[in-house]
Amino acid sequence: MSTLRPATPDDMSAIADLWHAGWHDAHPGHVPDELTASRTVGEFHARVPGRVGDTTVAEVDGAVAGFTMVVGDEVEQVYVAAGHRGSGVAEVLLDHAVRRVAAAGHDEAWLAVVEGNARARRFYERRGWRDEGALPYEVVSGGRTLVSPCRRYVFSIRQE
Ligand SMILES: CC(C)(COP(=O)(O)OP(=O)(O)OC[C@H]1O[C@@H](n2cnc3c(N)ncnc32)[C@H](O)[C@@H]1OP(=O)(O)O)[C@@H](O)C(=O)NCCC(=O)NCCS
Repeated sequence: MSTLRPATPDDMSAIADLWHAGWHDAHPGHVPDELTASRTVGEFHARVPGRVGDTTVAEVDGAVAGFTMVVGDEVEQVYVAAGHRGSGVAEVLLDHAVRRVAAAGHDEAWLAVVEGNARARRFYERRGWRDEGALPYEVVSGGRTLVSPCRRYVFSIRQE
């Protein structure tokens, strides 16, 4: 059973480690190698402090089992620790992220998922998200703008 709550500064290290591990489980070979090389554990620890306010964590037995980051109508990050995948934590987190987007007054939520990330795409489709097409997603890494081949997925909120 997972408990959802807003992230606090005490969670920053756990979020960064989980984000780093999950990123490297899903993306190498599907994004520019330069981006993969730049996604060090230190880079994630540097990114998290500015994102605590956007972040919701799922806690299982007192430990962070997953998190989302939501910005406006974008569900920007969805990450579940390897040991909790397939457990339902991802569903609880994603449904909550959609509620946050709805509470901010949006009729539709969107996210970018890397084209080659089959597991995540399968998960989103199973949760009713639609693949709206190619989205060359720009990410800044080492001062350079790199493009990850992504798909734009959307979830219609007001339909329900
Ligand atoms: C994406 C993520 C949150 C999904 O949560 P999850 O708990 O793993 O979801 P599920 O176990 O329900 O897996 C989704 C589906 O993918 C299937 N699947 C599992 N491994 C797979 C693989 N390697 N390739 C393709 N599909 C796979 C599962 O069988 C399941 O299919 P089903 O619906 O037929 O049961 C989680 O896998 C994760 O954190 N991954 C690493 C980080 C990541 O990719 N984040 C998303 C970035 S957009």
